[in-house]
Amino acid sequence: MVNWVSLLPLLGAACGAAQATPNDNILAGVYIVEFEGEQSTEALYRELRTDNDLDIEPRMALNYKLFNGASFNVSGAIDKDEALARIASNSRVKNVWPVTRVSVPNDRLVSVGQSDISKVSRSSISRRDVSNATYDVHVMTQVDRLHAEGYTGKGIKIGIVDSGIDYLHPDLGGCFGPGCLVSYGYDLMGGGGIGQPRPDDDPIDTCFGHGTHVAGIVAAQQSYLGFLGVAPDVELGAFRALDCIGGSSDDLLIAAFNMAYEAGSDIISASVGMDGGWPDSAWSLAAQRIVDAGVSVVVATGNSGEIGIFSASNPAVGLGVTSVASVDAREFPFLLLAGTYAIEEQEEEEFGWIAGQPPFQNLTLPLFYVGSELVINGTVFDGCNGLPDSIPDLSDYVVLVEEQPQSCNFYDQTDSIVAKGARYALFFRESEEPEYINTYDPSILGVGRTTGSQGKSWAKDLIAGRNVTVTFTNPEITKQLVTLRNNTVSPGSVSFWSSWGPDWELGMNPFLAAPGSQILSTFPRALGSYAILEGTSMACPFVAGAMALVAQARGTRDPETLRAALTTTAKQIVYHDGEANDDQGRLAPVAQAGSGLIQAWDAAHVKSVISTAGISFRDTDNLPSEIKFTLKNLGDSEVTYELGNNPTMGVYAFAQGSKRITAFPPLKADGAEAKLEFSNDLITVGAGESVEVAVVCTPPSVDASRLPVYGGLITVNGTNGDTLALPYLGVAASMKNDTRFFHTADPLGVYLSQNGQRWPIPVEPDTIFRGPRPSSETAYPEPGTIAWPQARVVTNVGSKLVRLDVVAADNSTARCLPWQDWLGYRSLGQLPYFPLRDLTRGSFRGTLAGMLADHTILPNGRYRFVLSALKLLGEEENPEDWESVEMIPFIIEYTTAL
Ligand SMILES: *[C@@H]1O[C@H](CO)[C@@H](O)[C@H](O)[C@H]1NC(C)=O
Ligand SMILES: *[C@@H]1O[C@H](CO)[C@@H](O)[C@H](O)[C@H]1NC(C)=O
Ligand SMILES: *[C@@H]1O[C@H](CO)[C@@H](O)[C@H](O)[C@H]1NC(C)=O
Ligand SMILES: *[C@@H]1O[C@H](CO)[C@@H](O)[C@H](O)[C@H]1NC(C)=O
Ligand SMILES: *[C@@H]1O[C@H](CO)[C@@H](O)[C@H](O)[C@H]1NC(C)=O
Ligand SMILES: *[C@@H]1O[C@H](CO)[C@@H](O)[C@H](O)[C@H]1NC(C)=O
Ligand SMILES: *[C@@H]1O[C@H](CO)[C@@H](O)[C@H](O)[C@H]1NC(C)=O
Ligand SMILES: *[C@@H]1O[C@H](CO)[C@@H](O)[C@H](O)[C@H]1NC(C)=O
Ligand SMILES: *[C@@H]1O[C@H](CO)[C@@H](O)[C@H](O)[C@H]1NC(C)=O
Repeated sequence: MVNWVSLLPLLGAACGAAQATPNDNILAGVYIVEFEGEQSTEALYRELRTDNDLDIEPRMALNYKLFNGASFNVSGAIDKDEALARIASNSRVKNVWPVTRVSVPNDRLVSVGQSDISKVSRSSISRRDVSNATYDVHVMTQVDRLHAEGYTGKGIKIGIVDSGIDYLHPDLGGCFGPGCLVSYGYDLMGGGGIGQPRPDDDPIDTCFGHGTHVAGIVAAQQSYLGFLGVAPDVELGAFRALDCIGGSSDDLLIAAFNMAYEAGSDIISASVGMDGGWPDSAWSLAAQRIVDAGVSVVVATGNSGEIGIFSASNPAVGLGVTSVASVDAREFPFLLLAGTYAIEEQEEEEFGWIAGQPPFQNLTLPLFYVGSELVINGTVFDGCNGLPDSIPDLSDYVVLVEEQPQSCNFYDQTDSIVAKGARYALFFRESEEPEYINTYDPSILGVGRTTGSQGKSWAKDLIAGRNVTVTFTNPEITKQLVTLRNNTVSPGSVSFWSSWGPDWELGMNPFLAAPGSQILSTFPRALGSYAILEGTSMACPFVAGAMALVAQARGTRDPETLRAALTTTAKQIVYHDGEANDDQGRLAPVAQAGSGLIQAWDAAHVKSVISTAGISFRDTDNLPSEIKFTLKNLGDSEVTYELGNNPTMGVYAFAQGSKRITAFPPLKADGAEAKLEFSNDLITVGAGESVEVAVVCTPPSVDASRLPVYGGLITVNGTNGDTLALPYLGVAASMKNDTRFFHTADPLGVYLSQNGQRWPIPVEPDTIFRGPRPSSETAYPEPGTIAWPQARVVTNVGSKLVRLDVVAADNSTARCLPWQDWLGYRSLGQLPYFPLRDLTRGSFRGTLAGMLADHTILPNGRYRFVLSALKLLGEEENPEDWESVEMIPFIIEYTTAL
C-alpha cells in the first residue's frame, strides 16, 4: 500500500503533452535494428565493432517471425546521429531507430482496496451469484446478453502486454500455466529496469497493478464484489514489459508484442502508449505487421483529450490497430472495508470504512459521538474547542468524530479527544467516498473514516441514548465492500479526457469506445486486491474481451472483420462538453468517439458486414476521388440496403486568429458537414453475396483558416433490420497551407533563453554568452549548468521533421565560415541532436555549447538560430512545405583560449 501512496501523484498527473525535448524520451546510447533478411546477430555485432568502430553491448535479441533484429548499447563518446549513420551503413541492417521510453497513459487511481484477498476468511466472501443483468457496464454494451447466450470467450487467447498479472489472485484463477486462466506469458522486464532488463519466465505483477486491473476487466471470474470479466473463459497471456512505476521502452514492447503473437494469441490488448500520433514508428509498424498476419491488436487511444483534438498516441494510430476511446460509466463504484456494528441488542450489520494511519486492529468497542449534534446545556461540543468536564474518559470508546471543515480541522478535534484519553477515532464528513487519514498523534492507536450517511445515522442513535458497538479487524484480513453512486453528470458520454484523433497523417482514429471511467477490477493482492481506475487503459481491455466474444460467436479471428463488426454496430453518442449534452443533440465527433459505444451482441450477430472499419478523406490536397468498400450479406435471403449520411458535430481546431489548438471543449463548427454521394443509394445484395460501394466526398466549405475537422457515419440500413454505421472523418482545409507549428505571436512560443535555468526566461538581443570553448572534437560538450544560448519552443501541431540551424548574424566575422543554403539562409550547421523527428504537441529546446551537430566548433562571434519545421502532409524536398522562424541574435565569447 505504501507503493500506491507514492504512485498517486504519478497516476493523477494532469493530462497534457509530454515535453518533447531532443533527448528526454530517448534512451541514450540504445538502438534497435531490423535485419535485412536472415542475419546472425553475432556477425552484426562483430562487424559493427570492427568495420564500424562502435563499442557494442548486446541488450535484446529480437528474433521473431515478424520482426528480426536486435537492440544494443553503443558506449563511448559518439553522438546519436553519427551512431545511427554508422549502424545504418552496415549492409545487414534494414532499419535502425533510437530506443525510446514508453509509459502507461496517465490513468487516474480513484480508489484502492486495503486488504489481501488471500488472507480474508473464505467463509466471509462466498461468491455472490450476481445476476448478469446487474453489472451495468456489461449491460451498456450488451456483453450481458452474449453471456446469457453462453458466449464467454472459450477457445480464444488474449495476450496482455502490460505490467504482468497477479495470477495468484483468486478472481484471476489462482495459478499460472496450462489449464489456468493465465495460461501463458513471459516477464521481459524481470528484476531489472528499463536500462538493463533481466527477463525471466514468471510474469507475476506484484508491484504496479495496472496489468492485473486490465486482466480483470477482460476475464475476472465472478468476484464477491459483484463484477465479472467481459470474457471470463478466455485464456490469458501475461507479457510483462512495464517496470514498477509503469515505464518501458519500445524495444521491450516490440518484443512483447511479437512474443504474444508467436505464443498463439488471437487478440493482443495493450493499454500502453506514448505521445506521438505518428503511424510509422518502429512500434506502430510492429503492431501493423501482427494485424496483417491475422491477429487483432487493441490499443488505448490515450488520456490527453483535455488538450483537444489531435491528441492520439502511438501505437494506437498504427494501421490496422483497433484504437479505443473511453465512455463514462452510468454508475461509479467505490471501495471500502467492511466492519460490523450492533445497536443495543440488535443483530450485527455491515458498514464501510477506510483505514487510516495507524489502522485499527481487531477491536470491538462502543462508539462515543463528538460533533455538531453534541449539545450540552445549550452549547455545541464538536471538538473544535476542547470538551467539557462532563465528558467521560474516552479511552474505551471508538470516538465517532463529525468533521467541521468550516470551523476547524481534524487535528484540532484530535487534540480535544486525546485530552479526554481517546485512543481510537473514526472520522466522517459529508462525503460518501471517505479518504485516507493520518492524525500524526502518537496517542491515537487506531484511526479511519466512514461515510457521511453512516456517521450521521450513528450520531442520531447515540444522541438518542442508544449504545452502538463497532467491530473492526486488521485491514489486511478484512473483507471489502463496494458502494455504487449514479453518475448524474455524464452517464454514457465520452470521457472528456479521452484522446482525440485523427493522427498527424489524418488517419481515422479512434474507431470505437467502451466504458473506461471509474472501473472496478482486480489488483495485486499485496496492493489491496481491488482498485478503481479510470482511463482509456480500462476501455481497451474491455474491447479486447468483447472482440473475443464476437470472435467466438462469429467463428472468425480475422482482425478487420472483428474490428469492422464492432465499429459498424456501435451506438452513437450525443456530444457532451464536460458539463452537459449538446443543446442541439449533435453526435460526438468521430475524431473523439469513433462510431460510438460498442454493442457486443449486435456485433456478434449482425448479418451484414462491411469490409472496412472507417474512412479518412484526409485534407483538401489529398482528398481521394472516391473510396470503395464492400458490403456483404451473410444472411440467407436477399437484402436491400439504404445508404445515408449522418454527420457528427464538426469542430474547428483553432479559434479565429489563434495559433493554439483549442483545449477541450473544442469549438463547434456549425455547418461543417460533408456531402457524400454513393454509387447507389439503394443496394440489393443476394444471400451470401457482396457488392462494392463507391463513395465520393465533398468537404464542407467553412472557414479553412481555423482547420475544420468534419466527420460522420455512413448509415447502411437493411430490409433485414440491420443498421450499420461506418465512421468517416476529414479536414476541410489544406494541412500544409497551415503555418502554426511555431507560435511566434506568443512571447513564450519561441524565444531565446539560457541553459541551466529551472524557470527559463527570455533574454535580450545580443546577450553575450560566456563559457569554455569545447575541448574535444569527438564528443558533444555537456552544457551542464553553463548559461549557453538556448532556443525554447512550444509546439502546437505535429511535425515530421524539425531543424535548428545556426547562421551568422549580419555583421559577424562568422559570415566567412563555410555555409550551406537552407531555405535561403546561410546555415553553418544544425545543433547537436537535430533534426528531431515525429514531433507532437509539446515543447523542445536546443542548446548551443559551442559545437554543431557535425562537430564543428564555432569561433567567437554573433549568431542567430533559425528554426524550421516540415508542415503537416508536406514533402521534405519542397522548400514551400517548410515553416521557419529566425530568432534574435546572440554573441558567443569563449572564456578559454583555443
Ligand atoms: C448468467 O450468465 C450465465 C452464463 O454465463 C448463465 O448461465 C446464467 O443463467 C445467467 N444468469 C442470469 C441470472 O441471467
Ligand atoms: C545501456 O544504456 C542504458 C540507458 O542509457 C543504461 O541504463 C545501461 O546501463 C546500459 N547498459 C550497458 C550494458 O552499458
Ligand atoms: C483478528 O481476528 C481474526 C478473526 O476475525 C483472527 O483470525 C486473527 O487472528 C485476529 N488477529 C489478531 C492479531 O488477534
Ligand atoms: C448544566 O447546567 C447546570 C446548571 O448550570 C449544571 O448544574 C449542570 O451540571 C450542567 N450540566 C452539565 C452536563 O454540564
Ligand atoms: C450502554 O452501555 C453502557 C456501558 O458501556 C451501559 O452502562 C449502559 O447501561 C448501556 N445503555 C443501554 C441503554 O443499554
Ligand atoms: C440510480 O438511478 C437509478 C435509475 O436511473 C435508480 O433506480 C437508483 O435508485 C439510483 N441509485 C442511487 C444510488 O441513487
Ligand atoms: C438508418 O437507421 C438509423 C437508425 O435507425 C436512422 O437514424 C437513419 O436515419 C436511417 N437511415 C436512413 C437513410 O434511413
Ligand atoms: C490557407 O491559409 C489561409 C490563411 O490561414 C486561409 O485563409 C486559407 O483559407 C487556407 N486555405 C486552405 C485551402 O486551407
Ligand atoms: C554588430 O551589430 C550589433 C548590433 O547592431 C552591435 O552591437 C555589434 O557590436 C556589432 N558587431 C560588430 C563586430 O560589428
